[in-house]
Amino acid sequence: MSFPQSRLRRLRRTPTLRRMVRETVCRVDDLIYPLFVVPGTGRRREISSMPGIFQLSPELLVEEAGRAREAGVGAVLLFGVADDKDDRGNPACAEYGIVQQGLRALKKTFPELAVITDVCLCAYTSHGHCGILRGNEVDNDETCRQLAAMALSHARAGADMVAPSDMMDGRVAAIRRALDEGGFPMTALMSYAVKFASAYYGPFREAADSAPRSGDRRGYQMDPANRRETFREAAFDAEEGADILMVKPALAYLDILRDLRERCDLPLAAYNVSGEYAMVKAASARGWLDEEQVVMENLLAMKRAGADLIITYHALDAARWLKKGEY
Ligand code: PBG
Ligand code: ZN
Repeated sequence: MSFPQSRLRRLRRTPTLRRMVRETVCRVDDLIYPLFVVPGTGRRREISSMPGIFQLSPELLVEEAGRAREAGVGAVLLFGVADDKDDRGNPACAEYGIVQQGLRALKKTFPELAVITDVCLCAYTSHGHCGILRGNEVDNDETCRQLAAMALSHARAGADMVAPSDMMDGRVAAIRRALDEGGFPMTALMSYAVKFASAYYGPFREAADSAPRSGDRRGYQMDPANRRETFREAAFDAEEGADILMVKPALAYLDILRDLRERCDLPLAAYNVSGEYAMVKAASARGWLDEEQVVMENLLAMKRAGADLIITYHALDAARWLKKGEY
């Protein structure tokens, strides 16, 4: 049957009817809020290209996590901004390193908060690459060993979940083995399985002070032109023991999210990255976009494409907007 017997506008006529047939929803439980921890006390520095997002010293990090809890957000993704760096990224594995300190502080005040840690060396290496260099190239296997040590130190400091973002081959297996052998078989692993070499990470690199001093990340992150390759990345990480797979960035890669959703049974996360956040904030600050409407539309698009979880700098605002019950 088609028009005029069928009229699709019948179910769009009132807000209640529209809600009844709404296919996708975003829940506050789907949101993960990224946080940046810096050494010291009383430090709160706003990232210039990410208004509303701050580098925070541990006690202020706990305060910000308190705001997340109040808004109903149950999970955070923790990044360290290191003031000591070396060519191997050793400070990333220190028992009292910056992420390890932040973790202990968070878990002490909010034991029920799910704390996920980013596992990558770029914020801790003097050259800014995501791994240990041999000549001009990142040494894959040597880097995997270092990442495993880093993940284990996060588990010891109380991480509920570790999230490797480096894109080395075999790092999920190396980290899983280190966690299991180190006595942390229940520490979960969310893999940045499908991570593209993207210009959308620009603002983040200011936030984490993690830009490569020379060259770029195309030797380890994926080529944005590739789709089939994402299935191999996802399959490897699933086989190596990842509990959750992530696609990153989100908005320019919704097709990939959809494809993976259809092929894979693990929970999927989408990373609504810094550049996506910066674009929305910049345009809405000028009055060119309605921030709330655009953010909720973007988050909904990620859910509709197949994301179970969304890592987003908008998490606190989105949680408040969701409470209104309109979305
Ligand atoms: C570190 C890392 C990056 C992001 C998350 N972890 C940057 C990069 O790979 O250069 C990007 C997050 C964002 O842009 O919001 N490997
Ligand atoms: Zn990195």
